[in-house]
Amino acid sequence: MNQKKTSSRKNQIRNGLRADKGATAEADGKTMLQNLLQGTIPNAHIEISQLPRLSGLRLGLINADFPTGPLPAEVMRAVIAQPAYWAFCWGSGLACAEWILANPALLRDKSVVDIGCGSGVVAIAAKLAGAAEVWACDNDQDALLATAANARLNSVDLSLSADLAELHAHFDFAFLADVLYDKSNLPLLDVVKPLAQETIVSDSRIRTLPDPNFTEFFTTQALTHPNLGEFDEFKTVRFFRYYRATS
Ligand SMILES: C[S@@+](CC[C@H](N)C(=O)[O-])C[C@H]1O[C@@H](n2cnc3c(N)ncnc32)[C@H](O)[C@@H]1O
Repeated sequence: MNQKKTSSRKNQIRNGLRADKGATAEADGKTMLQNLLQGTIPNAHIEISQLPRLSGLRLGLINADFPTGPLPAEVMRAVIAQPAYWAFCWGSGLACAEWILANPALLRDKSVVDIGCGSGVVAIAAKLAGAAEVWACDNDQDALLATAANARLNSVDLSLSADLAELHAHFDFAFLADVLYDKSNLPLLDVVKPLAQETIVSDSRIRTLPDPNFTEFFTTQALTHPNLGEFDEFKTVRFFRYYRATS
């Protein structure tokens, strides 16, 4: 796997684990994720979860009974400074992975990039569906480490990148699942569109996209896992697609 610009703390975590040759891949990945999570939320832990509706796909995620009450000020500051998005499988990612696994012929032997990969759920589903090459991209280094651990857990091989600008425009498919939760991420669409023949956005936070070239083609219901108790309005996941014009 390619791993770019990883901080020294995370290199230490990874290298320490790699040196531990006797550990199983699962225990290895779980320990790494546990160390990452505790940097943000000390009284939570990692569980290896079987995803609902995604038979066979497992991820290391925050424990289902994670602390939901008021957090101590320093924990709150850490959560705001470095939210562990990767410790959840967001409803839009879960729905997207489910859609991919229900339509494997679409991705078979194709090249795919998952932008804002978080836990890696979409990238892993793409690889399990038979994609030839899958890149997972996230600007959070912890998300890339989580994706690497989760890829190993599911015995798939992914390439990783922290920087969209480093990706070459050669993909058959680009996916963005729950990346537009922050309106300031909307300009990402213009960066992603040239990267792939087809861009697919799955999102429960937005009802329409500002770019009329994206057309809505599918709607489903999904919950974030573990359940965050989100408002009903965020349980509907909308899928939009954009086809790049061929010259
Ligand atoms: C809510 S999570 C969704 C994760 C995953 N796609 C899923 O559905 O479970 C959003 C992810 O997008 C990443 N992200 C946000 N802005 C980004 C950007 N400009 N480039 C790459 N990743 C980004 C965050 O770090 C986070 O991991």
